[in-house]
Amino acid sequence: MDNKKNKGTKMKKIKIIHLFAFLFFFTLIFSCTKNQNEKPNINNNIIIGFSQIGAESAWRTCNTQSMQEAAYHAGIQLLYANAEQKQENQIKAIRSFIVYQVDVIVFVPIVQSGWDNVLQEAKEAGIPVIIIDRKIKTTDESLFTAFIGSDHIEEGRNAARFLLKKFNDEQRNYRILEIRGTEGSSVAAGRSAGFRQILKTDKRFTITASENGDFLRSRGKEIAETYLKKDKDLPFDILFSHNDGMTLGFLDVLEKTDIKPAQDLIIVSVDAEQAAIDALKDGKINCVVECNPKLGNPVMKTVKMLSEGKTVPKITHIPENVFTEWDDLSLFPLRGY
Ligand code: AHR
Repeated sequence: MDNKKNKGTKMKKIKIIHLFAFLFFFTLIFSCTKNQNEKPNINNNIIIGFSQIGAESAWRTCNTQSMQEAAYHAGIQLLYANAEQKQENQIKAIRSFIVYQVDVIVFVPIVQSGWDNVLQEAKEAGIPVIIIDRKIKTTDESLFTAFIGSDHIEEGRNAARFLLKKFNDEQRNYRILEIRGTEGSSVAAGRSAGFRQILKTDKRFTITASENGDFLRSRGKEIAETYLKKDKDLPFDILFSHNDGMTLGFLDVLEKTDIKPAQDLIIVSVDAEQAAIDALKDGKINCVVECNPKLGNPVMKTVKMLSEGKTVPKITHIPENVFTEWDDLSLFPLRGY
């Protein structure tokens, strides 16, 4: 990457980018604002343009911090653009990164479709693109260099596998309420698909309702308010929620009723935020499937490999755990998010 620019051009570029990012995003964050006592290897030759979705959950906040901290420690400059949950803002940010010739573009696609044009522009500008966390739908895989993130289909499968294990010996039927993540995102599609894949051969389980919760705690609460009417029987046996924020919102309402969480209603959640692990320890959730937000180090490693002209893996899935009510909960280290 470095061969195409001399040092003077690079310094000019850095200044222009500073100005641009300040004016247009108001959120330019240099990773070196953190941990002032630690000394990173300064390598100001690499600049990443990073388009993040927003800050809809504790998971997302940790994901952003992980990118910023890893960039700082790697001595890489990170231009951060917060898209405030809008795909159009992400496309604008990516276009601006192209205009200012960053070395690598990293982005979290809020939804799967609609990226081909802007990625074609990045390709024509010779800027490698690393997609993190969520995947895109494209017929041209050459439009991105690498994907780094979770296997969301496997997360859905793990949620379902927990239910099969829990109800191994029982012959009754189970009604499931699913609360999905953002419509059109690969993560919601993946978790739904993996969950159904495992349960479809077992006639005891029926998904009787599936609601869009948009990964928001407030939506989890609203959905609970819709279904948990005081004078009515509990209409579900199982809650499968695509993230902890929505699960915790649902619990906020559930705890005001006589329904016992994790007993009258079996609860399976995804992310493994500290608050959800605490709820698991308190016997309010039965299973939490981990989704690992700490993608910063693998991303910086990949960026450095690219800068050295090395070939990088096309798809990297981060290993993840499943935490259940059967685990020795005293062994769980703090999650950090
Ligand atoms: O894309 C990952 C998902 O996005 C996480 O499960 C959720 O909490 C976040 O908002």
